[in-house]
Amino acid sequence: MTPSSSAHLPLGDQRSGRFYGKDILTVAQFGREDLEYVFGVAEAMRTMVQHIGTIDLLKGKILANLFYEPSTRTQSSFMAAMQRLGGSVIPISEVRYSSVSKGESLPDTVRTLECYADVIVLRHHEVGAAAQAAEAARKPIINAGDGPGEHPTQALLDLFTIREELGRLDGLTVTMLGDLKFGRTVHSLSRLLSLFGAKLHFVSPEQLRMPAKVTDELTARGISYVEHTSLSAVLPETDVLYVTRVQKERFEDLALYESLKHAFIITPETMKLAKPKMALMHPLPRVGEISTDVDADPRAAYFRQMEYGLYVRMALLAMVLGKA
Ligand code: NCD
Repeated sequence: MTPSSSAHLPLGDQRSGRFYGKDILTVAQFGREDLEYVFGVAEAMRTMVQHIGTIDLLKGKILANLFYEPSTRTQSSFMAAMQRLGGSVIPISEVRYSSVSKGESLPDTVRTLECYADVIVLRHHEVGAAAQAAEAARKPIINAGDGPGEHPTQALLDLFTIREELGRLDGLTVTMLGDLKFGRTVHSLSRLLSLFGAKLHFVSPEQLRMPAKVTDELTARGISYVEHTSLSAVLPETDVLYVTRVQKERFEDLALYESLKHAFIITPETMKLAKPKMALMHPLPRVGEISTDVDADPRAAYFRQMEYGLYVRMALLAMVLGKA
């Protein structure tokens, strides 16, 4: 669905109305007030889940979950989100078994699914796929990751996690570590953090630096960032350490992947250099970047981060379907 084709505002809140019938393709669609609104709804969803479990806010609504790439958390949390709001889900998580394997195009696939569903969550291996799907569809498309492009709903839940863990969002020192080139979550998150005057540190191997497309945007917004190849100097001043997996599936040269995959490993020893109050985050899956003996550290927020994702995705579905 294109912005110009948005439906009428629902009764009630204007912010909710801003997202009613809209696609969620990029974090650039969100200003600070929108974020506060999303987080307020997510808080309400949390209270609801903890006290009641499931409600019928989206009863009768159907979500199509269309995943061209593997997913555990994003896929199952969108499913759980829809079901906890009383809606139902068409899961297409193995496009191999759908008509995609017969050569059906993305526009035709989304035009099909929107005949049956009210909203489509799409993960695809190409940058811009969600925008392309949105051009073709009348119903809202939610980008659940477009190749190494963006992952807006992950960034929203990441920001919600920071707010819950540290109690604030303004003026934080955030260090992103790992595969900053191919990791779409850090592309989206650094853009969102630029709204809150964050001081950013990007730690990666030389070959996996943050793309210029992202750093140019940060510079244009007056956000300071510093690039490093080692963590130790910046860790003591870090409020949020956001670790990412080296994205094996995006490498043409697997030998290069092998040489970089364990460039950084967070251990209890590493955590000794970190502030007593900080958040260690990871979008998951982890494949060795954070050793499991860090899990018991109270600063390890990555399991809570997954749970927050449910509430944020419930909020987004309710907003897009005009029920927040
Ligand atoms: C991330 C993704 O798919 O970009 N996973 C997720 O959605 N939680 C991170 C990753 O795959 O490394």
